[in-house]
Amino acid sequence: MERKWWHSLTAYQVYPRSFYDSNGDGIGDIKGITQKLDYLKELGIGIIWLSPVYKSPNDDNGYDISDYYDIMDEFGTMADMEELIAEAAKRGIRIVMDLVVNHTSDEHKWFVDARASKNSRYRDYYIWADPVNGGPPTDMPSSWSDSAWEYDKESGQYYFHMFSVKQADLNWENPDMRSDIYDMMNFWIDKGIGGFRMDVIEMIGKKPFEGIINNGPMLHEYLREMNERTFGAHDLLTVGECWNADTEIAKLYSAPERHELSMVFQFEHICLKGDKWYPKPYRVRDLKRVFSKWQKALHNKGWNSLFWCNHDLPRAVSAFGNDKEYREESAKMLATLLHGMQGTPYIYQGEELGMTNIRLGSIEDYRDIESINMYNDRIAKGDKEEDIMESIYQSGRDNARTPMQWSAEQYGGFSKVQPWIAVNENYREINAAAQTNDETSVFSHYKRLVALRRSSDTIVYGDFRLVNESDDDFFAYERSYNGETILVVCNTTPENREFVYRGVAGSELLIGSRQDADISDGSIKLRPYEAVILKLA
Ligand code: GLC
Ligand code: CA
Repeated sequence: MERKWWHSLTAYQVYPRSFYDSNGDGIGDIKGITQKLDYLKELGIGIIWLSPVYKSPNDDNGYDISDYYDIMDEFGTMADMEELIAEAAKRGIRIVMDLVVNHTSDEHKWFVDARASKNSRYRDYYIWADPVNGGPPTDMPSSWSDSAWEYDKESGQYYFHMFSVKQADLNWENPDMRSDIYDMMNFWIDKGIGGFRMDVIEMIGKKPFEGIINNGPMLHEYLREMNERTFGAHDLLTVGECWNADTEIAKLYSAPERHELSMVFQFEHICLKGDKWYPKPYRVRDLKRVFSKWQKALHNKGWNSLFWCNHDLPRAVSAFGNDKEYREESAKMLATLLHGMQGTPYIYQGEELGMTNIRLGSIEDYRDIESINMYNDRIAKGDKEEDIMESIYQSGRDNARTPMQWSAEQYGGFSKVQPWIAVNENYREINAAAQTNDETSVFSHYKRLVALRRSSDTIVYGDFRLVNESDDDFFAYERSYNGETILVVCNTTPENREFVYRGVAGSELLIGSRQDADISDGSIKLRPYEAVILKLA
């Protein structure tokens, strides 16, 4: 496989609103990110996935864009953005912009114009339809409500929105619209960004009147066109958010010879927990099956992302680890399990500290439109409030959106004033200042994993083989490349366990979650959630 700069680097996702507030208004901002670049350099990452910073009325925290060419007021200015790109570059970090082009805000000038008149040249940039029997044109629900159609009184037609009513879906069948999007992408490419993370990109080929939203017939054609007219001529990273990709579809997106995207960001392992609002336990053997399937299917055929969480998901250690007595141990174990695989790892801000979910007192404390809509729907349907809050505690997106915990100072050192959303009270123990100089911290463990990837071809390019597929106590696998074999062993239980494996005799410990490791001739004794990476003799 041809080598690419993003194969061996680790990405870090910044959710700007919650990263660092540089000017004391309680909201994270671009200057705040620039001020924290040295921290990210210390961690060793080479890519920042920046959640949206474009102009937005913030119905969905920036995923509703009203001007792609301008910066959100609270976040700063275009000059701040240029400074961030330049300062990051000095530290060997490239900025990957979130590209939200399935929809725009209803406050985007295209939509404002389109709505004003059926004859607007922008009318067809969106999806409109006449009422049917006095109601919506189809019975398609949106992701967050009962109908994806919103009635527009002025024109007597409905417009289509897969997310909130303030996020109107663009009509990708319109070539002028596509050209305008490509111009905008080239504007950002010219600013020197490192690439694009493509929000719900699998939806752009939709056929709403046929009930097709994801993986529509024109999807890959549009992506090839986009590649050709924008980033294809540059050496950029492009990653598509694909909830509905199986391994075959993932190859369509990411096989280099198809000239679409660099990689997919797919969720099959996350989906093992079942329905978002009613999660259920999963078995370690199922996790192994899913990861192994992806490792094998994309090896030399495409490229995958590796992640446990992002701004839409609960915190990794709370969802997949043990965020109580074994918080640090299980956070390190999860990191090891993931970062030894093939793909580009994504660390979500605070994950490298083992930050946890939050339980806030009432729905008024929550900010996320998805949780609030779900709450109102279920209250209306007569659900018990405590059950609804439990859903939010388990899976609500605000779990990941509480402010980054920088220090033990007030508000976790995120801001000098009360932030836009509550800070997790555990900031006094869990914070960056307490971890950056501690060799045994979660942060230092991540740092070692990130560094190993930069130096080990076996981790980046090796093939993958599960060890003991049906065992639920260990997640263990080998990676082999050019005669070298690396073994990753993770104890997924809160108990001491012995991993019996002949091959470990004489092996070298590359990374241990407890620094040392108890390796004998034919086995390793692992403490609760302990994880090791060994180079076999
Ligand atoms: C993606 C984003 C999410 C957003 C949605 C609509 O799933 O990750 O945060 O709400 O798209 O843009
Ligand atoms: Ca601010």
